[in-house]
Amino acid sequence: MDVFSDACQEAGKMALPEPLIGASVLVTGGTGTTGKLLVRWLLEQSGASRVIVFSRDEHKHHDMLRDPRFQHPALHSMVGDIRDLRRLRHALEGVSLLLHTAAMKHVSIAEANPTEAVRTNIEGTMNIIEASRDAGVLRVIAHSTDKAVQPACIYGATKLVMEKLLIRADAESGKDGPRFDIVRHGNLIGSRGSVIPLFQEQMKSGRLTLTDPEMTRFWIDDETLVSIIYRAIVDGKGGDIFIPKLPACRLDTLAQAIAQDATIEIIGARPGEKRHEALTDPVEASRIRQFDDYLVITAEHRSGNSHAGGAPVTAGYQFRSDQAPLLEVQQMRDIIDGNFRTEPA
Ligand SMILES: NC(=O)c1ccc[n+]([C@@H]2O[C@H](COP(=O)([O-])OP(=O)(O)OC[C@H]3O[C@@H](n4cnc5c(N)ncnc54)[C@H](OP(=O)(O)O)[C@@H]3O)[C@@H](O)[C@H]2O)c1
Repeated sequence: MDVFSDACQEAGKMALPEPLIGASVLVTGGTGTTGKLLVRWLLEQSGASRVIVFSRDEHKHHDMLRDPRFQHPALHSMVGDIRDLRRLRHALEGVSLLLHTAAMKHVSIAEANPTEAVRTNIEGTMNIIEASRDAGVLRVIAHSTDKAVQPACIYGATKLVMEKLLIRADAESGKDGPRFDIVRHGNLIGSRGSVIPLFQEQMKSGRLTLTDPEMTRFWIDDETLVSIIYRAIVDGKGGDIFIPKLPACRLDTLAQAIAQDATIEIIGARPGEKRHEALTDPVEASRIRQFDDYLVITAEHRSGNSHAGGAPVTAGYQFRSDQAPLLEVQQMRDIIDGNFRTEPA
């Protein structure tokens, strides 16, 4: 089953809105798991005139260009590094929409190489801001993570700084300057380096290593991810953080869903890992507006309620993975098999 095609059954609803109709779009990290998902939507549904895939590794570009799903006249592949301002400036010529997914995202690698995480996730974002302004980009949507909320690891801390840089940049944008919005979400099912492919690999030996059986994590599927990005493009007012209302799952439930009969070895949490994650911070509660299947955190510089249809949340509200609806074993299996749509919390 092709989850992406199903996700795009909403066809007409997923076309780029004014003033982005027929836009040139650049996707940083377009060869990654999230990037490819967005590129497929852009090519198949959005009506974009040009979709530029921007990332470093030439082999990933090569593989993508040979993949039948990406054979499309609008696709342009560009090798480049977001640390390289000159290259970014060149890539953004004529671009109206920038979807920023490129990052160093592995918690343990970022812990061991903090300077590199800073250079990609923070300095890279500073370059994105500067180059977008200079090129006259209209909209920038960046990917953040639950790990940016009360961060306990370098990766989360760099993503928190990324969020703050973008929100400040939005506050400083003139009326014609770029609008910067953010999507913050939990673990993408099946993304590279996540625990699901790890368990699937370990299953072959009949032995799974679990950090902590009670640990909970938010999970997002392809369809929900494309939908929340689209929501941010359509409704983002600048400086907004869009958060899908995701379900969560205990780690032991996930292990059972993947390998019911495997032997489990508990190895303890790794440096920088929390037992539970949160998608919002209590200090953000007064600026949250709640919709059926997502939340929006309005930037402090946007006075009043710029998302009028949404309901406020209670003071001190926090959206935590141990308090979200917890997925059962069969539901998690269905999600992994692509047969389940994540339901609003
Ligand atoms: N996956 C998740 O569960 C999850 C959850 C929450 C948030 N996010 C966020 O979503 C985004 C995408 O995650 P993902 O899982 O799709 O990551 P991924 O599969 O590892 O893809 C990352 C992409 O970024 C590119 N990249 C890395 N450093 C770069 C640089 N300096 N310049 C240009 N391109 C660079 C990579 O290609 P090269 O290495 O070839 O450059 C690759 O195309 C990240 O910002 C991540 O923080 C992910």
